[in-house]
Amino acid sequence: MTDPIRRQLPVVGVAKVPHGGRDRMTCLYRCGNACDHPVPNVSDNPYFGDLVNGEVSRRGVMRAGAVGAVVLGLGAAGAATAAPAMAAPEPAPATLPEVETFAATTALTFKAVTPNRVDGIVVPNGYDHSVVIRWGDPVVPGAPKFDVRNQTVKAQLKQFGYNNDFVAVLPLDKKGNRALLVCNHEYTNEDLMFPGFVSQDALTLEQVKVAIAAHGLSVVELERVGKTGQYVLVTSGPRPYNRRITALQTHFRLTGPAAGSDLLKTAADPTGTDVIGTLNNCAGGVTPWGTILSGEENFNQYFVGAETATGDAKTRFNRYGIDTNNRYPSGSRKWDRADERFDLTKNPNEANRFGWIVEVDPFTPGSTPRKHTALGRFKHEGANIIKSKSGRAVAYMGDDERFDYLYKFVSDKKIDGRNTTEARKHNLTLLESGTLYVAKLAYTSATEIDGSGKLPSDGAFNGTGTWIPLVKDGKSQVEGMSVEEVLVFTRLAGDKVGATKMDRPEDVEPNPVTGKIYVALTNNTNRGVGSNPAADEANPRNANKHGHILEITEDGGDHTGTTFTWSIPIVCGDPADPSTYFAGYDKTKVSPISCPDNVAFDNAGNLWISTDGNALGTNDGLFAVPLEGAERGHLKQFLTVPYGAETCGPWITDDNKSVFVAVQHPGEISGASVENPASNWPDGDFAKPGIAVTWNIWNKPIGA
Ligand code: FEO
Ligand code: CA
Ligand code: CA
Repeated sequence: MTDPIRRQLPVVGVAKVPHGGRDRMTCLYRCGNACDHPVPNVSDNPYFGDLVNGEVSRRGVMRAGAVGAVVLGLGAAGAATAAPAMAAPEPAPATLPEVETFAATTALTFKAVTPNRVDGIVVPNGYDHSVVIRWGDPVVPGAPKFDVRNQTVKAQLKQFGYNNDFVAVLPLDKKGNRALLVCNHEYTNEDLMFPGFVSQDALTLEQVKVAIAAHGLSVVELERVGKTGQYVLVTSGPRPYNRRITALQTHFRLTGPAAGSDLLKTAADPTGTDVIGTLNNCAGGVTPWGTILSGEENFNQYFVGAETATGDAKTRFNRYGIDTNNRYPSGSRKWDRADERFDLTKNPNEANRFGWIVEVDPFTPGSTPRKHTALGRFKHEGANIIKSKSGRAVAYMGDDERFDYLYKFVSDKKIDGRNTTEARKHNLTLLESGTLYVAKLAYTSATEIDGSGKLPSDGAFNGTGTWIPLVKDGKSQVEGMSVEEVLVFTRLAGDKVGATKMDRPEDVEPNPVTGKIYVALTNNTNRGVGSNPAADEANPRNANKHGHILEITEDGGDHTGTTFTWSIPIVCGDPADPSTYFAGYDKTKVSPISCPDNVAFDNAGNLWISTDGNALGTNDGLFAVPLEGAERGHLKQFLTVPYGAETCGPWITDDNKSVFVAVQHPGEISGASVENPASNWPDGDFAKPGIAVTWNIWNKPIGA
């Protein structure tokens, strides 16, 4: 079933596509025009390999144990206007709801959706979809009705934020008839939020603070519609878990070896442990102990004032993409107007307090979210955890920048598998100490790589790899850098040890069925261009517009180990393009795909890939592909999102009955505004980011 094409779009002129398929407006607001700036990685570490031949993630959320003795009644906790969390006593962690284990049922037999430019969500025959929540909908009970013409900070602090990205749906009961939806709000687009927008300077300070409050995360309660895969927002009753976490007010506690470091202290926080807010939260993951991990990504674009920096400070700002030449357009939102902590001349360490992996316990209202320094600081796309054979939490992570690195973290302590308050308390400390590694890849066919994407004579882009320790046993493994420096300036540590420069590592996620790790490398149009590093076997195309998927298999299936093998199952693009590859599957039967970004797995271990910036010129979408057996590589498009939008999430429920996607930045086309929208999604008026759910109308599993 598809949405009707409501009207011819857009009225705002033809989108220029300077950076793959992205509109210039998205480039500006989402990542501060990162592609227009110099590549931050100017290290000379080798990109041509010199090594010749390198249990259960979210599905493992503890199912056994007591029926969720969930702590309720801490009503004030959800309120975004609550007093500073640091002042309130920390509530004991709630135990988790008991949930059913569902058999793997998926066969990907759906008929692929055709690439299109429809201003709506298009799903396969036999499926339906609905909007679950959109910008401005109530989150905290008592939230005022959304009024785009009179939006206030007070309202936004209780309403769903802007530009939803990561999505998780966590059952609150055995069959998931009630569930918590947790989502990130990555960034704002003031052009599309404020009627009559003229410029950032012309916004009132109240409007600037609305934008700050529209960043962060939301937690909301959902309920299932009958026995279908459809979910709707719960809009009445106490809703004790509902909360807004914002960049404006929410206190975060820094943990781990760098917490309290001089590098993290500011005038407002002499302890170096108490940060207000989270920024540019992109992808994420769910831990086996039922918490949410969220990646702080393009935080650099919120800060001004680095142009006065010199010496090491300047080197560090540059390596993180913080503009050291101009006050603006760096920090183009001009938040320093509203809060001087965004001015690095006054608060030089404030930027060091962003770029972390954030952990939120959605089951414990009032819990203080934390930023884990042990997992390093970079443009974190997200983090996904698998439990190793020895019981440790192993987090896989990507640094989403051209020519940046892949990382993993192995906890020192083991996961406590019981569902008790004690066990959860213990598990909440797992990301506070461990070993941080960066990946270095080696190649089997190095001399054959010519940048065209031509498959080497051994039939595969593949090789081995090593996880190089950066911090281990509480000690720095990087010459000339202290533990604190390695963790706060992790990119520089990766440079020093010769990590492999990748084509923008986005989501990195372990397959819960096979334990193999999948990396979405979204694109890198600078690969092999000018003085930038040329193609290598792991990034085999120069001017890589469409991206690829990397598959990592840890040696011996040991996620705590230091060696692995890797291969590239999918090289994206139009299948008619000879540089594409779909694991050897018949290319006439696969869908075109460009710019893989977020990944997820259904309960049969099929890979679901959402795209961002489709450089083939049609709308972004969600794709599914089997990874094992004869169907490996048979990739098909499952849905497309509205005009101008990117597909985020995605999330497939444990019963395989629902697929959630976040529709981020619909209608984000240069020249668009509230009055003159380039998309009418989801309500037929101006464009609003929102989350949609898709289900099979005959109640079959997703993909059938
Ligand atoms: Fe926010 Fe790496 O995409
Ligand atoms: Ca090879
Ligand atoms: Ca992303």
